[in-house]
Amino acid sequence: MRTIANAPSTLPQANDPCWCGSGRKYKRCHRKVEGRVLPGAISPMRPVPEHIERPPYAETGEVVPWDEPRVKSPDVIERMRHAGKVAAEILRLAGEAVRPGLTTDELDQYVHDLYIERGAYPSPLNYHGYPKSVCTSVNEVICHGIPDSRALQDGDIVNLDVTGFIGGVHGDTNATFFVGEVDPVSHELVRVTEECMWHGIEAVKPGRPISDIGAAIEQHAKQHRYGVVRAFIGHGIGQQFHTDIQVFHYYDSRASTIMRPGMTFTIEPMITLGSWQHRMWDDDWTAVTTDGKRTAQYEHTILVTDDGAEVLTGGEGAVSPSAPWDR
Ligand code: MF3
Ligand code: CO
Ligand code: CO
Repeated sequence: MRTIANAPSTLPQANDPCWCGSGRKYKRCHRKVEGRVLPGAISPMRPVPEHIERPPYAETGEVVPWDEPRVKSPDVIERMRHAGKVAAEILRLAGEAVRPGLTTDELDQYVHDLYIERGAYPSPLNYHGYPKSVCTSVNEVICHGIPDSRALQDGDIVNLDVTGFIGGVHGDTNATFFVGEVDPVSHELVRVTEECMWHGIEAVKPGRPISDIGAAIEQHAKQHRYGVVRAFIGHGIGQQFHTDIQVFHYYDSRASTIMRPGMTFTIEPMITLGSWQHRMWDDDWTAVTTDGKRTAQYEHTILVTDDGAEVLTGGEGAVSPSAPWDR
């Protein structure tokens, strides 16, 4: 994060002349960058020791999809329970390390080592060429922020998205954390985003269409006048990081796939204070809101059971162990 050295403490209205003396309207001048997250320097890719089992894309960065069953075998499910637990623990530890002054690159180093200590490969690393082991998305960054030299600032919110590959399967989970003292508007956004995820999880029922999930999420977000990001969606997961199942976070009648016991997918709503549309940074990964307003996200990996959902990245020790209204 960077700020501008000689910016005044009270900012002009949108159509006032810019404080910098350019003679241009504030909205056409410094408003575009003030308070926004700016890219920092990205350090070299971190190595993973030889003894750790790698997913097929680890060496080349190329992802070659294959036809993976949507309904998992009991053996795959058991391994996904373990991968989910490992990812959940790493996410909790990473969140506990968040503090003002820490760079997201330092956070990446810490998280990278946590995966390796547990015998897991950091799934993001070299996935379609992604250069780091965790995604760190600050303030208006919707998702896929790349850890870099920027220090976290008091008042920021940061989403950490942890995915680990262990036992031949992936576990994928994320949560949004507060950096120091955070304003009440952001607190509310983060709280409601977590609630949105749980409303989505509670809509998981065998025999029902997958569109029920998005309908539940969208309804809750709308009640709070928040936006729902549409461009990034939940996904099938298992031996591959992303499989063909699509989980929209808003209602779409075309999401007619019927949920079946043994299916595994993620639910990962991104909720915004303002615009739900995104713009991409030049790095082609970092997605930010078009208006620069804040956005939050939570994610769990879910197994459809005979009567509902099992949260493979939830339970004791998880950042979001169960629905807030059940605890
Ligand atoms: N973990 C993200 C998800 O929830 C995907 C990150 S892909 C990466 O789907 F390449 F950016 F790591
Ligand atoms: Co994720
Ligand atoms: Co995911």
